[in-house]
Amino acid sequence: GTARRHVVDVVPGDGIGTEVVPAAVRCVDHLAASFGFTVEWRERAWGCDHHRAHGRMMPVDGLEQLASADAILLGAVGAPDIPDDVTLWGLLIPIRREFVQYVNLRPVRSLPGIRSPLRSEAPIDLVVVRENVEGEYSEVGGRVNRGRPGEFAVQEAVFTRTGVERIARFAADLARRRSGRLISATKSNGIIHTMPFWDEVVAEVAGASGVRLEKVLIDALAARLVLRPESVDVIVASNLFGDILSDLAGALAGSIGVAPSANLDPTKTYPSMFEPVHGSAPDIAGMGIANPVGALWAAAMMLDHLGEPAAAARLVSAFEHVLRAGTATRDLGGTASTEEFTTAVVQALDEGA
Ligand code: NAI
Ligand code: MG
Repeated sequence: GTARRHVVDVVPGDGIGTEVVPAAVRCVDHLAASFGFTVEWRERAWGCDHHRAHGRMMPVDGLEQLASADAILLGAVGAPDIPDDVTLWGLLIPIRREFVQYVNLRPVRSLPGIRSPLRSEAPIDLVVVRENVEGEYSEVGGRVNRGRPGEFAVQEAVFTRTGVERIARFAADLARRRSGRLISATKSNGIIHTMPFWDEVVAEVAGASGVRLEKVLIDALAARLVLRPESVDVIVASNLFGDILSDLAGALAGSIGVAPSANLDPTKTYPSMFEPVHGSAPDIAGMGIANPVGALWAAAMMLDHLGEPAAAARLVSAFEHVLRAGTATRDLGGTASTEEFTTAVVQALDEGA
C-alpha cells in the first residue's frame, strides 16, 4: 500500500512508564488505521531492570540503535534503589544531548474536569519553549581548594549565538502560529553578560519574524504566571529558567499526571523524544491506576512531529471528551483505572470525538 510509515522506538522505562506507554501505543495504533499510516514500534526494555542486570541503563550502542528511528516515545525512568542521577544521566540526558534536541516544549492548558490550585477560573493555555542543551546546565567550571578554607566552586553559563538564535526562531515561529505574542524570560538587570546577549539575539530574531516581543524579568514573570496566567501565551526561556517556569506553569494547570513534554530536534537530523512530564511514581506503580493523559498527550505531540496533525488533534480531543464526560483516574478524584480510561478514549476515537 501507500500508507505512510513511521518507525518509533518505545522506551516504557520504569514504574508507571510501563503502564501509560502501552495506553499511548494502543491509541496511536487505533488512529493509524483510520488516518492511513502505520507505526513500526521498536520496543526497548531499557531502564532500571536493565541496570540491575547489566550495570547500565541502556546497551553500550543504545544511542546508535535509536538513531535510525523517526521518533522516541519514553515513559519514565527511576527507581528507589538506584540513585536518580544515575538513571537520568544514563538514559535521558545522553539522548537529549547526542540527538541535539535543543527544544524542550511544554504545553500547559486547563483541561475539563481538572481544577487549578488558583482561585481564578480564567483558562490557561500557554507553551513554555525551553532551551534544552546549553545555558546554565554546562559542564564548564570547577571546584577548587576542596575541604580547605578557601574552597570555591565556579560554573559558567554558556550561551552561543547559534544556540540562542535557533531556540528564539522556534519560539517565534510557534508564537506566529498562535497569538503572535512572544514573551522572553530574562534577567539582564542582574546577570550582565549572558542575559543581555540573550535579549539582543532574541530581539533580532523576533523582529525579523514579526511577532510582538515582550521581555519580562524572570522573577516578575513567575509572579505574573500565578496572578494572570491567561495573559501568557508563548514563553521562550533559557535552560534553567525554562525548567523552573514549566514546572510552575504545569502545577497551575492542576495535575502532574496530564502534562506532556517534547524534546525536539526541529531539523529532524536526529529523532525527537516525547514523554509525559511525570516520573515513574513508585508509590502507585503496578496498581493499574496511573493517569495515562500525559503519555497520550505526548503521543499526540509525536504524531504532530511525524506529520500526522489530524490524528494528533483527534487524540487530544478524544481524551478531552472523556475528561469532560467525567471519566477520570484517581489522581483527579475519579475511580477509573488506566485501562478503563484508555478504553474510553479508544471509544471516543471511534465516535470521532
Ligand atoms: P513522580 O512524577 O513519579 O510522582 C510524583 C507524585 O505524582 C506521586 O505521588 C505519583 O503517584 C503522582 N503521579 C505522577 N504521575 C502520575 C500519573 N500519571 N497518574 C497518577 N499519579 C501520578 O515524581 P517523583 O516521585 O519525584 O519521582 C519518582 C521517580 O521518577 C524518581 O526516581 C525520579 O527520578 C523519576 N523521575 C523521572 C522522570 C523522567 O523519567 N522524565 C521525571 C521525574 C521523575
Ligand atoms: Mg524539571
